[in-house]
Amino acid sequence: MNMKTSLTGIKPSGMPHLGNYLGAIRPALRLTQTHRSIYFIADYHAITTERDPQKLQRQVYDVAAAWLACGLDPNQTLLYRQSDVIEVFELAWIFACIVATGQLERGHAYKDALEQGAPNAGIFNYPLLMAADIILYDAHVVPVGRDQAQHLELARDIATRLNHLYGEDTVVVPDALITEAPTVPGSDGRKMSKSYDNTIPLFIPSKQLRKEVMKFKSDSTPLEAPKEPEGAIVFELYKTLASEQQTQELASKLRAGGYGWAHAKEDLFQVIDAELSPLRERYDHFRANEAEIDALLLRGAEQARLIARATMSRVRKAVGIARR
Ligand code: TRP
Repeated sequence: MNMKTSLTGIKPSGMPHLGNYLGAIRPALRLTQTHRSIYFIADYHAITTERDPQKLQRQVYDVAAAWLACGLDPNQTLLYRQSDVIEVFELAWIFACIVATGQLERGHAYKDALEQGAPNAGIFNYPLLMAADIILYDAHVVPVGRDQAQHLELARDIATRLNHLYGEDTVVVPDALITEAPTVPGSDGRKMSKSYDNTIPLFIPSKQLRKEVMKFKSDSTPLEAPKEPEGAIVFELYKTLASEQQTQELASKLRAGGYGWAHAKEDLFQVIDAELSPLRERYDHFRANEAEIDALLLRGAEQARLIARATMSRVRKAVGIARR
């Protein structure tokens, strides 16, 4: 089979929320049907900002369990910890030697960090490690959100430059696949995001989930009055999960009047809970079995290292870092 390779790095940042699931996780997992796919947990990227070792440890398991729960099949998809394949640092160094510092200085993330204070060199070099993550594994496509587009451009530039300097077939030049995520509204109507504190965490128990859904903002139109569903936060979120038919049904109930926002929220809770219940069960299973996650990640790393070594032997030879 001549499938292309897709690769994604996941920063360990705790339990994902519904917006992450609908906007990033679900679309990324769809790619596994048409691509040879590689996923890794970017723990070495995390320490550019995370200073709490226990929290970092825990979040690696959280994120691995989350992706496994959402349907990542480790028998079909390569899944490993970035830190288990240290060849990535060797490649990142080689990249550092062919990239102009000016290019890193123009990085959005670096510039933002500079505004906040004095960023560490890890933040400055972040895009180099990310380029190495991608190029080490001969990835053809990298599904990422808009915020990562610049990093992907740099990875492309680096691969192109390396090939130009050392021979056209040294490395694969990756393509970004910018995933246009559906905007998922949070409880206050703004985009669902941890920084707005308006999220629905993915794997909370049903009872708590209902409470979170009831917090969603709605206007105070009386129960009997007809209501316009389009544009209402509860309805907009309902649309992202319900079937076409369910969506039309709820719209006409609201428009008819006699159907309150509390009813609509109950409907919303029902569709979310139906989607998430099986995932929650798998999540709880994995989260209670860290050793099982470790075994899966290690097995993944062994396979990943085979690809990494092949790339490094090509690159070392090309660069002149190898015995004749
Ligand atoms: N920088 C990415 C993020 O913040 C995570 C990441 C690290 C990544 N290495 C990668 C994504 C390689 C894609 C490919 O989400």
